[in-house]
Amino acid sequence: MITDFPAAIIAATRKKISAFLRRDFIKPAAYFILLFLTYYLGYLSAVSKNPLCEPHRHYSTTTTTNNTTNMIKPPSQAAAVDHYQFKTRCGDPIPSQLIRQSILNRVFNGTSPYHDFPQPHIKPLLRQQRIKGWGSTGAVFKNLINKVRPKTIIELGTFLGASAIHMAELTRQLGLDTQILCIDDFRGWPGLPNQFRDIKMVNGDTMLMYQFMQNVVQFNATEAIIFMPFSTGSALETLCAWGVTGDLIEVDAGHDFHSAWSDINRAYKLLRPGGVIFGHDYFTVADNRGVRRAVNMFARVNGLRVKADGQHWVLGSL
Ligand SMILES: C[S@@+](CC[C@H](N)C(=O)[O-])C[C@H]1O[C@@H](n2cnc3c(N)ncnc32)[C@H](O)[C@@H]1O
Ligand SMILES: *[C@@H]1O[C@H](CO)[C@@H](O)[C@H](O)[C@H]1NC(C)=O
Ligand SMILES: *[C@@H]1O[C@H](CO)[C@@H](O)[C@H](O)[C@H]1NC(C)=O
Ligand SMILES: *[C@@H]1O[C@H](CO)[C@@H](O)[C@H](O)[C@H]1NC(C)=O
Ligand SMILES: *[C@@H]1O[C@H](CO)[C@@H](O)[C@H](O)[C@H]1NC(C)=O
Repeated sequence: MITDFPAAIIAATRKKISAFLRRDFIKPAAYFILLFLTYYLGYLSAVSKNPLCEPHRHYSTTTTTNNTTNMIKPPSQAAAVDHYQFKTRCGDPIPSQLIRQSILNRVFNGTSPYHDFPQPHIKPLLRQQRIKGWGSTGAVFKNLINKVRPKTIIELGTFLGASAIHMAELTRQLGLDTQILCIDDFRGWPGLPNQFRDIKMVNGDTMLMYQFMQNVVQFNATEAIIFMPFSTGSALETLCAWGVTGDLIEVDAGHDFHSAWSDINRAYKLLRPGGVIFGHDYFTVADNRGVRRAVNMFARVNGLRVKADGQHWVLGSL
């Protein structure tokens, strides 16, 4: 059982306030002071709940779900530390101009995936162009591409290619010879076929990857955009081993805390010195602000500063 002092104090304070408010003679100043006090106490308790600030906290929690009682055992000190540990050393960085061919060789057996695309059995399943994105043309892309002038961009979470194609156009306008490497398992999420009925499915296989490829072809971006159709976890671990690095890394795959946390940690290992990592949905309330919590925690652990640019977060040095 956890004795949570701040929580107890907050509860007591909130109780006092509501009793106070029930009376008619509230003085606005007192009201604001009390309001401020509860929020301040709430803030303190939130901070103290952060395992980083309180490494010796007891974790034992009992959750009862119908007839099963699960004891979440306190993790050993080592386990608590393990949560922050990702592969630390990547392979020696390969030159950026070798990245595309390296991916073609190692992922596509030496043949471009756009070769002969779309094959006759695929073509009838595709629309000539079908793009949908979320904040995919925000000013952040132009701002960062102008600033970093990246040779390599790595994108986690591509979907139909809206943001990748936008970045390809921006780099083309600037005359940069940028290679954009898109990582997506191209599954979308469970329930996708209901939301995107016009994206065909064959034996449970959604045509998301093919439609993304078709969009890239349609925008003449096959030279600029290459992809890895795998989970972000396995793709990033592999790229680390292969010494593939990026000057600009965009994180926009899983938006729950745990996905965002591991994506950011793994992606950061691939960032070239002077590069920038950024991502979507710093402000969304979906998934209990999973992305924001992960970004903030990552910044805190690594001594970085979070900047907002539209809906996006950008990590910089303090
Ligand atoms: C919000 S969409 C990306 C949108 C895109 N960046 C844009 O602006 O147009 C998220 C994508 O992440 C992919 N995704 C989610 N979790 C993933 C994972 N663990 N590995 C690979 N892809 C993942 C989904 O398939 C989906 O296409
Ligand atoms: C407990 O079981 C009921 C009925 O099977 C279900 O509706 C409910 O969601 C369950 N609650 C939890 C916490 O699993
Ligand atoms: C839980 O256990 C009790 C007693 O063993 C039983 O009567 C009840 O039906 C169980 N409920 C569920 C949701 O399994
Ligand atoms: C990969 O390429 C080699 C040489 O071109 C070929 O012999 C082999 O069949 C290819 N493998 C696959 C899975 O296509
Ligand atoms: C792609 O190239 C074709 C042929 O050069 C051209 O007609 C078309 O307008 C281009 N599309 C885009 C989006 O740039």
